Amino acid sequence: MFQFLLLFLRITKLINVIGVFSLMDVRLSDDKLVSLKTPLLALACFESESMPDHLKDVDKALQGEIAALFESGNFKGELNQWRIIGGCGRLACDNVLLFGLGKKNDASLEILRRASGTTASLVRDKLGLSEFAIAFHMVESGKPCKSMVQAEVEGVLLGSYRYLKYKTVREGLKSLKSLVVAGKGFENEIEKARVLAECANLTRDLQNDPASDLTPEKLADAARELEKFGVSVQVFDKKQIEALGLTALLAVNRGSVNEPRFVVMEYDGGGKRIALIGKGITFDSGGLDIKPADGMLSMRMDMSGAAVVIGALRAAAMLKLKAHLFGVFAATENMPGNNAYKPGDVVPTYSGKTIEIANTDAEGRVVLADALAYSEKHLKPEVMIDFATLTGACVVALGSVCAGVMGDDQSIIDALKNAGEATGERVWQLPFYKEYLDQVKSEVADVRNLGIVPRQGGAITAGAFLKAFVEKTPWAHIDIAGPAWADKSSGYTRKGGTGFGVRLAVEFIERWK
Ligand code: BES
Ligand code: ZN
Ligand code: ZN
Repeated sequence: MFQFLLLFLRITKLINVIGVFSLMDVRLSDDKLVSLKTPLLALACFESESMPDHLKDVDKALQGEIAALFESGNFKGELNQWRIIGGCGRLACDNVLLFGLGKKNDASLEILRRASGTTASLVRDKLGLSEFAIAFHMVESGKPCKSMVQAEVEGVLLGSYRYLKYKTVREGLKSLKSLVVAGKGFENEIEKARVLAECANLTRDLQNDPASDLTPEKLADAARELEKFGVSVQVFDKKQIEALGLTALLAVNRGSVNEPRFVVMEYDGGGKRIALIGKGITFDSGGLDIKPADGMLSMRMDMSGAAVVIGALRAAAMLKLKAHLFGVFAATENMPGNNAYKPGDVVPTYSGKTIEIANTDAEGRVVLADALAYSEKHLKPEVMIDFATLTGACVVALGSVCAGVMGDDQSIIDALKNAGEATGERVWQLPFYKEYLDQVKSEVADVRNLGIVPRQGGAITAGAFLKAFVEKTPWAHIDIAGPAWADKSSGYTRKGGTGFGVRLAVEFIERWK
């Protein structure tokens, strides 16, 4: 009996794994739109008073129904406006979906990506279909549309993400099984979109995982999975972390019963040495400076930076990018257990500098201090970028629309800004004046983990603190506290972990030659 139970559990576990990682099948069809056999053919258009030319053939088959929609003013192609027209045997598909992209002047790949994400959830959740065909990239006939195909497939694959790991009752849950992209010669773009979405969705899974299940040890296991893709992974356990002397990480870990982990991943595709470093707090209770209930609920996502690093390294390895990458994260919970570090403590660090703990809830910067110093010393990167859900202050400043970026190397920041505009994962530069650096000086130690002026410039003083642990390597800090998590679904973003940063990091790496 017991063995049967075990077998059953194993099988359901297997289904979970498959369920979580299986993405839909994406294929190309160069059939004419009117002869494309599919339950739903999704077409897009910009805002217009009359029917745009690229819809002519389909409109003709539909006996002028699309043109009539425009003429009557019932459909204008306003952003997110959509209509379904039944095929009724007039063309090969069962239904046509018309999706509005808004004003042509505002057109961007991001608009297309979001529209595709919205369409995916519409088709699956509202219409209950398991497959559809998409030709949003034909919206500007005659223009090269490879990047549009990539954005569109990314949008569909990201927009159909769901976190189902803990759902045992799945009746009535429809899934999208296949997507047909109209046209030919887009194999590379589809493959790239698939890799990027798969890796961002892995990051989302890790963000969404409950903290009691995704402990530092499990987060390190997730990194180890990258060995399958040719990434070498070193995991340091508590004893090894002690031997290394990552004492800041150990200080934050002291209030927790779960051991910390320190992880170094390496993917060598030749080219520039770039280190991506992530904050890996698997749960942030605030420690003894405990958070209020509202603020604590989402704090299982405080390892988002580490999850971004895992997702980005997986994508880089799968895409065989020409770069020598390192992915580093320090993972621990921040808990108020008996032995917890205390406000007023002075904590030694790997770098030799000491930290005055003014608030145990400013723990991310403390563990990052060791991760940055270790990376600089041992990996000798040409560039270091850290991703961290570092401050509520950054959320207050920028909301969840973009991340904050700061540092003292403008060329890295500019490349990140450009990569952000291209991927829709945008970063906004915050100032990094010397005055901010002065605000993290301590009277008793070398640095203080809180700015000296309460509630002022909190996102920047956190970055200024990190700066004290970077000696000479060009470096940028990205505070993803806002965009890492979504309170509601929209476009290709699903409620919960967003995977923000994975596509940004990959785009940056490709640009940084
Ligand atoms: N993990 C939080 C920051 C955070 C807040 C991330 C909201 C995502 C959403 C971080 O460790 C923290 O608690 N920061 C404190 C710092 C304060 C004590 C100086 C904050 O921002 O309130
Ligand atoms: Zn905190
Ligand atoms: Zn935190």
